[in-house]
Formats: sequence, structure tokens, C-alpha cells
Amino acid sequence: MKLIIAMIQPHKLPDVKKALFDNEVHKMTVTNALGCGQQKGFTETYRGVIHEVNLLKKVRLEIAVNDNFVKPTIEAIIKGARTGKIGDGKIFVLDLDQCIRIRTSEQGSEAIG
Ligand SMILES: Nc1ncnc2c1ncn2[C@@H]1O[C@H](COP(=O)(O)OP(=O)(O)OP(=O)(O)O)[C@@H](O)[C@H]1O
Ligand SMILES: [Mg+2]
Repeated sequence: MKLIIAMIQPHKLPDVKKALFDNEVHKMTVTNALGCGQQKGFTETYRGVIHEVNLLKKVRLEIAVNDNFVKPTIEAIIKGARTGKIGDGKIFVLDLDQCIRIRTSEQGSEAIG
């Protein structure tokens, strides 16, 4: 099992949601976040001296999947979120030890799927 965390541009959320749905990924957690990447939150056109990071609004997606859904999930996020410009976002893939459905106590792949 993997936990996929993606930071995306907020305006790309509808496209990412649609692409995930098309790849049969229906479970997700979405939160508003602040973040910055290698441009420290400034655009390429910024010409001043940067003394601190500038946090930009991002959307954070968390999706726990069985191993056979890792690729379809990543592909959907890229399809929905990519514009080719800086700030398109990033995907982190983490090993996930356990998942438990509270209602039934099901564990692991049964609980995720
Ligand atoms: N190394 C990191 N650790 C934690 N969060 C990160 C990291 N890199 C990026 N992020 C998060 O992802 C968001 C989007 O990052 P962004 O797409 O700007 O990455 P980048 O590495 O600067 O790539 P690009 O040059 O394409 O902009 C950031 O605002 C931040 O929330
Ligand atoms: Mg960046």
C-alpha cells in the first residue's frame, strides 16, 4: 500500500478530480495548503531580491491506494495538473503500513479499496 500526497495548483483541482475518477480512483482527502517550491514562491518574472519565502495557495491531495493503483493515480494527477509551467506541483509516494476501516475493523487492502 502507498500513500500518495500531491500538491497541485488549486485551479487544476477539477481536472485532477475528473482524471482520477476516469482511472477509477474515488477516495481522496483534499485540503487547502500553503507552500512554495524551488522558486521560493515567486515567479520567473520576479526581479527583486528575495529575502524570504513567499507562500502560495496550493491544494493538497492525499490518496491511499493498493499497489496496483499507484500508477493510474500518478498518471491521473499528472494529466489533470500539468500545464508545463513552473508551480505545476509535486507528487510524493510514501509506503503505507496499515489502513483500518473503523466501521468494520477491516484492514489493509480490504480497507483501502
Ligand atoms: N521538497 C518539497 N517538500 C515539501 N513540499 C514541496 C517540496 N517541493 C514542492 N513542494 C510543494 O509543492 C508545491 C508545488 O511545488 P512546485 O511545483 O513549485 O515545485 P518545484 O520543485 O518548484 O517545481 P517547478 O520548478 O516546476 O515549479 C509547493 O508549493 C509546495 O507546497
Ligand atoms: Mg516551483
